[in-house]
Amino acid sequence: MSKRIFSGIQPTGIIHLGNYFGAIYNWLELQKEYDSIFSIVDLHALTVHQDPKKLNRNIYDLAKIYIASGLDPKKNIVFRQSDVKEHVELGWFLNCVTPIAELERMTQYKDKSEQHKQNVNSGLFTYPCLMAADILLYDTNVVPVGEDQLQHVELARTIAKKFNNLYGDVFILPEGKINKVSARLKGLDNPEKKMSKSATSENNYIALSDDSDLIRKKIKKAVTDSGTDIKFDPNKRPALANLMTIYHLVTGKEAPEIEKEFKGKGYGDFKSELAERVVEFVEPIQKKFNSISDKEIDSILADGAQRAKKLAEKKMEQVRKVIGL
Ligand code: AMP
Ligand code: TRP
Repeated sequence: MSKRIFSGIQPTGIIHLGNYFGAIYNWLELQKEYDSIFSIVDLHALTVHQDPKKLNRNIYDLAKIYIASGLDPKKNIVFRQSDVKEHVELGWFLNCVTPIAELERMTQYKDKSEQHKQNVNSGLFTYPCLMAADILLYDTNVVPVGEDQLQHVELARTIAKKFNNLYGDVFILPEGKINKVSARLKGLDNPEKKMSKSATSENNYIALSDDSDLIRKKIKKAVTDSGTDIKFDPNKRPALANLMTIYHLVTGKEAPEIEKEFKGKGYGDFKSELAERVVEFVEPIQKKFNSISDKEIDSILADGAQRAKKLAEKKMEQVRKVIGL
């Protein structure tokens, strides 16, 4: 039996190059060799209040991005988390074996509760238990994510061990997997921080849905370091290194080759070339995105839910039994 991967993205609006290269891009390769499940994790999105109409739209759009990027919904399971109620049920059981102190250590919780001081709800706090449920429900071996999610995957492993100690060998211990090059793309307006959907300025990120002119504008505005030549040096010139990483990701060219290409040229030339390469990269995804109807998504998600449910129901029978329910 081939090993299984599970991963997901929250339907909270745009998908930026960080999400794309940190997550989806790696899934495209992994789907070839793993038994793969990709979820639209809508329940996770609710830790921040979502406008109901927008949330619904975002779910369809994220599913379209999955398909437009090249995930195969026939070979893999592509489904919406809230369609499989077992996630919530297992999430509760895992809540009951997870020490509060473990949850308090989570960097994302600390950052987000600082960011949304007026809405530090308990969902935000126990979110890693729901994420652990997503992963453990499907006997997942490997969880491909961006770097910011590794801590949550490690906690899922800790929770699985804890549960297994109490009830016997029920869960497979999952491992996180990142792509070192793209695990943490930085904001275009601030190379100290990760590129983020919740950034205050939209100049922080390039969204897959940005049109050509907006992409050109944002790259032109991207901050750069002191220096003039094109040299890959993440320590001394993190802003340029981030842009060169994006150049590498959209063209496949390695840093020395990029340096050679821009020998004798400056930031301006590099940025205009980068903008054109990014435009070229996102265009086919946008075209495909626009060609997919909501109806097609309905049928993909219905099929995915049915297949996911089969696996989830079987696992939950086992879980309820060992717990004594
Ligand atoms: P989210 O949008 O928070 O659901 O994240 C979806 C996926 O994108 C997760 O695997 C994240 O780790 C990944 N991700 C988010 N931001 C970045 C970033 N700036 N660089 C690389 N990966 C990222
Ligand atoms: N928490 C992840 C994020 O914010 C999304 C997510 C939810 C996830 N459940 C998951 C990722 C299970 C991998 C596996 O990006």
